[in-house]
Amino acid sequence: MKPFDIVIVGGGGAGLYAAMEAMKTNPSLNIAVLSKVYPNRSHTSAAQGGANAALGNTAKDDTIEMHIFDTIKGSDYLADQDAVDVLCSEAPKIIRELENIGTPWSRLEDNTIAQRPFGGAGRPRCCYCADKTGHTILQTLYEQCLRKGVIFFNEYFALKLSVNGSRSRGLLAMNMKTGKVEAFPAKTVIFATGGYAKMYWNRSSNAAGNTGDGQAIAYRAGIPMKDMEFVQFHPTGLRKSGLLVTEGARGEGGFLINKDGERFMARYAKEKMELGPRDLVSRSIETEILEGRGFDSPAGKYIHLDLTHLGADLIKARLPQIREMSLNFEGVDPIEEPIPVRPTAHYSMGGIDTDNFGRTIMEGVYAAGECACVSVHGANRLGGNSLLDILVFGRIAGRTAAEEAGKFEPGTISEAELKDSVDDLRSRMQPSGHYERYGALREELGQTLALNVGIFREASLVKKGINDISELQDRFKKVRVFDSSDVFNTNLMQVLELQNMLDLAETVAAGALAREESRGSHTRIDFPVRDDEKWHKHTLATRINGKISAGEKPVTMGRYELQERTY
Ligand code: FUM
Repeated sequence: MKPFDIVIVGGGGAGLYAAMEAMKTNPSLNIAVLSKVYPNRSHTSAAQGGANAALGNTAKDDTIEMHIFDTIKGSDYLADQDAVDVLCSEAPKIIRELENIGTPWSRLEDNTIAQRPFGGAGRPRCCYCADKTGHTILQTLYEQCLRKGVIFFNEYFALKLSVNGSRSRGLLAMNMKTGKVEAFPAKTVIFATGGYAKMYWNRSSNAAGNTGDGQAIAYRAGIPMKDMEFVQFHPTGLRKSGLLVTEGARGEGGFLINKDGERFMARYAKEKMELGPRDLVSRSIETEILEGRGFDSPAGKYIHLDLTHLGADLIKARLPQIREMSLNFEGVDPIEEPIPVRPTAHYSMGGIDTDNFGRTIMEGVYAAGECACVSVHGANRLGGNSLLDILVFGRIAGRTAAEEAGKFEPGTISEAELKDSVDDLRSRMQPSGHYERYGALREELGQTLALNVGIFREASLVKKGINDISELQDRFKKVRVFDSSDVFNTNLMQVLELQNMLDLAETVAAGALAREESRGSHTRIDFPVRDDEKWHKHTLATRINGKISAGEKPVTMGRYELQERTY
């Protein structure tokens, strides 16, 4: 195959924005997007609530500076302040750019873009398209990429980076339709593969495909992961499935109620109540449940998200998907009854360590969106800053790769490397003797993470998690792929995804044990206080000779000093 100037791995919001911007920067470039699903089915489509931008439409006195401060405070002061400046300053421009290319934002009476309140924000600044914001943005971006001539390789499963010393030669990926491994020689590669919270399995709001493929490939190639211990639990997942009930539901005025009928958030966030930041609201719900004030059911313990007082018209107009999902997955109509909810693993703040331009330490390799850690979210991301992140930093990574592609020689991937990769896959299909089933391992991984490396953590629990993960890694060597066919071998792909989750789970648990403090989403009951002296820093996990090596990086400070975080 002729070398590409840019190969983008992932067809969600970050990947598509990167592709669109790279084309705009230099239309003569040969740009490919590889995606394991059709781009308009990427997990971005599940982002319901919206994207933050200080437009000042709903609250006239909102400013970019307030957005910056809310984000830094929300991050528990772990975000890099120069990166947050970029995120929030670019936000109004990117919302308008999306509008100009066709995103149908919900409107206010005066026809300006509507904004709703979201957790941890001082002003209502979350721009939305009812409760289908990500879905709508994705359609707009895909359309633009097709129009501009981006080449799509849909239903391709990325396997590994081809590395030559300190730089990449491109990528190897499996064509899921044929089972053939193909080489994608490229001057530059951008990872935009989304998050890894599906490792928490059925305690997760994530799509089945959010298995951290890009991070795992980069990690195995020696690129450091940053701040992996920070996994965000969204306060309101549906009780049975863990699927997301948008923060927009509380932004529109929904209440959280325990079994005694109390709006219990008054105990934890007097001022912000249900619109406290996610780490705080999730801990509060979990505390209510642990202290016996939750509801019980065969499907697990939960609390109520009550929208009944909002009225049928508002729910139908602004939260139609929430109503549909509550009906389909819980048999509850939120117009009539409260929705049973419980916190659900939702977002990975950690990821591939990049600079503010999306560059990694490997020449020619970039990352953007949830798979990257710039870091703009630090220890806790604010709702509405994730769509914003993928748009702003997807665009920056696309532009940077387009400007820098000319610096690099076109990559060449040898036949021998291609053959090694195919042999590696085949070997999975013929283990002899005792074997393991991937389904059992996947579920056990989710359970141990939820129990031992979940919302509340403690040394002995996390150590148990680390042991379990290590045992699962041993058992993984015996996992058999039963389906021997080439065409859409989903059994093989699930096994490869499990391998990616296991590799990353080890870094999450190692980070959770090492960080002896409580900050943002990382709550250590044995170290309940934030310890700025020892832990105001990013952690790095790099794979060296098959083992994790721990490192660290300073936090970039700016105008905002460390402060106590209250809501
Ligand atoms: O609650 C939500 O709609 C999720 C938004 C987000 O994760 O930013």
